[in-house]
Amino acid sequence: MRSVEWDETNHNLKMIDQRLLPAELRFVHYDTPQEVAFAIQEMVVRGAPAIGVAAAFGVALAAQNSQALNKEDFIHDLQEAAEILQAARPTAINLKWAVQSVLNTVKHSAAPVSELKKLTLKKAQQMADEDVAINQRMAQHGAKLINEGDTVIHHCNTGALATVDWGTALGVIRFAHESGKHIHVLVDETRPRLQGSRLTAWELQQYGIPFDIISDNAAGYFLQTGQAQKVLFGADRMAANGDVANKIGSYMLALAAHDNDTPVYTVLPTSTIDMTLTHGGLIPIEERAPEEVLGIQFQGQMVSPIGATARNPAFDVTPARLLTGIVTENGVVYPPFEINLPKVIQGDQLWRLAR
Ligand code: MRU
Repeated sequence: MRSVEWDETNHNLKMIDQRLLPAELRFVHYDTPQEVAFAIQEMVVRGAPAIGVAAAFGVALAAQNSQALNKEDFIHDLQEAAEILQAARPTAINLKWAVQSVLNTVKHSAAPVSELKKLTLKKAQQMADEDVAINQRMAQHGAKLINEGDTVIHHCNTGALATVDWGTALGVIRFAHESGKHIHVLVDETRPRLQGSRLTAWELQQYGIPFDIISDNAAGYFLQTGQAQKVLFGADRMAANGDVANKIGSYMLALAAHDNDTPVYTVLPTSTIDMTLTHGGLIPIEERAPEEVLGIQFQGQMVSPIGATARNPAFDVTPARLLTGIVTENGVVYPPFEINLPKVIQGDQLWRLAR
């Protein structure tokens, strides 16, 4: 089951509405790039690779809907859609990477507009298929780092829901489990949007992987008392030096793991590496609505007094020095990351080095 896919019958984009899980598994359909951008903002679809592929299909929808008769007008329509899609969420570089990949394919083709329409859809579909294949390669590399009997702390949701299918950090956990290793997952609930307790726990149940949900602030306790052997999370954007932006709370988790000599791995496709940024301080951090923090209820009551204000950064940056290794589809990268990261960026991704 894919979280994001092209619906061949309805000729539109079909996605799981992740806001409703775990209570309900519902698919929603989108016909325009504007609707897709809104779905990304509202987190119907979320997770860096998933929003990238959704945006690629958003450009494909703009192509299908375009009335342009010549290539210049057609590219203008696509560029308008690209700007709206790219602006939907600022931190995950996958969004820009995916949108620009589709645009570049069109720009570099000499085909007529009718063929270009088919080409945009083909490219988006190809990116969706590649995402699954890349995740499976990361899972195989990463699973070698997990030992029999390990308890792994996992932050946010990095599974099939955060990608097209399979997942990044959760894909590693799934592969280790399916290879016969007996592992246990401590699932950070991941406030304020609870991607851990709502989505990761739901996925782990489907795969039959044993887990316990923990409050985010309990992770230090489990690390200090030797009850966790690995920390795994995904990434929304990595700078050239290995600093990594991921879901808010990743930094505190990595600090606690480092203080207790517990290995920390981030699992990411190389499309998440932004070689144009020298360090993590340059990564734009999305700040979301305070209502996400203030709106939480406990035992049927609001958790904050009426009139309270809140701050809600959605991501933080874990400095590269706190990472033991970076799992990519091309292998595991170890420090010094400045030297070793460019070695795993290959093929058509080299354009990012040249910019
Ligand atoms: O705000 P979200 O839910 O989109 O944040 C998602 C994360 O931070 C994930 O850890 C990240 O995208 C990597 S998952 C493949």
